[in-house]
Amino acid sequence: MAITRADCHDLDVRDPLRELRDEFSLPPGVVYLLGNSLGALPRRTAERVAHTVETEWGLHLGESWNTAGWWDLPESTGDRIAPLIGAGPGEVLAGESTSVNIFKAVAAALPLRPDRRVIVSDLDNFPTDRYVVEGAARALGSYEIRDIGSGDSLDGVLGNDVAVVLLSHVDYRTGAMRDVDAVTAQVHAAGALMIWDLCHSAGAVPVKVGAADFAVGCTYKYLNGGPGAPAYIYVAPRHQEAARNVISGWHGHAAPFGFEPHYRPAGGVRRFATGSPPVLAYSALNASLDIWEQVDMREVRAKSVALTSLFVELIDQLHPDLALVSPRDPERRGSQVSYRHADGYPVIRALIDRGVVGDYREPGLMRFGFAPLYLRYVDVHDAATTLAEVLGKELWRDEQYQRRLTVT
Ligand SMILES: Cc1ncc(COP(=O)(O)O)c(C=O)c1O
Repeated sequence: MAITRADCHDLDVRDPLRELRDEFSLPPGVVYLLGNSLGALPRRTAERVAHTVETEWGLHLGESWNTAGWWDLPESTGDRIAPLIGAGPGEVLAGESTSVNIFKAVAAALPLRPDRRVIVSDLDNFPTDRYVVEGAARALGSYEIRDIGSGDSLDGVLGNDVAVVLLSHVDYRTGAMRDVDAVTAQVHAAGALMIWDLCHSAGAVPVKVGAADFAVGCTYKYLNGGPGAPAYIYVAPRHQEAARNVISGWHGHAAPFGFEPHYRPAGGVRRFATGSPPVLAYSALNASLDIWEQVDMREVRAKSVALTSLFVELIDQLHPDLALVSPRDPERRGSQVSYRHADGYPVIRALIDRGVVGDYREPGLMRFGFAPLYLRYVDVHDAATTLAEVLGKELWRDEQYQRRLTVT
């Protein structure tokens, strides 16, 4: 039986997370399915950042490094991210971009396996991961990169020459999920170290770093930290004394105000800090982490599965020819759904024009992210019917949708 908008409204009424939508400032008339790229703006963010600007900076000036906790922001913010990735206090440091943290993690991991020269990487991973691995291999000496493809198993690539494996938990194109524990165990059985990229995991699915050696991720997607928000690095406690930060700046020094001529690493995860933190960006991120502290990730996951499954079901009904590239089994899917269409780019542009915001990724993929904190079931209904209309009436053929913008 067809799912109606009224059915979806009933689901919204019974949704245990429904009140959280009021925490977000969303433009009227827009169904925002891009929380997997840039999360929506929490209402409390503007006030928090204004306080940091006007009071901490404007009134207290440099004193705020001590009195407002600016100096400790990388650790204090990391401790708030930690529960979202199954890590403990003192294990996560917030800062830099994901790309820089990948470099730091790879460069810290390689010397922990000094007799091995291979880095295993996924060619279908988000490109920055592979680009950074290439840069690290070049900068750090004679390392070889061994590639696998999206969803490929590691069987056959894990020789005793492999030092490090870098993979994403959730695939950025398809939303397909890898099994963190099984893959980490397989990598460890081969004597190598495991680095996970959790960009599409934290706040989207309950993820635990488990036995992983390092992990990295961003906070501007599902965590709603704001454009360019500080990323994070997880360093397993067992590596924290031996692992070294390749960008050994003064914020990671054991005695930064000793102004010693030579570098000595701080204890714990703090040694992965480098230079002055962007305080205003941390302020925005911490506002959004207040919301995450009220949320039960099991409820988030249950709603995420329900939202993505509803979208798939509606498209099955309304436009069954569209090729689903995300796993049909919700257990194997993150919080996004992707479809392939030869003209995916103009389709997305036509959708955005009608208030349904998704994005486009080569080759031919239309991505739709489902952020359970602020999306309603009726939004999913409206998005699916609009997509079916754009496809059915071929509205995407309009000339104005053909020209590529810089950001797709
Ligand atoms: C898996 C993954 N890694 C890394 C990034 C981006 O890295 P950065 O935060 O350095 O821009 C993205 C961006 O979408 C991503 O999806």
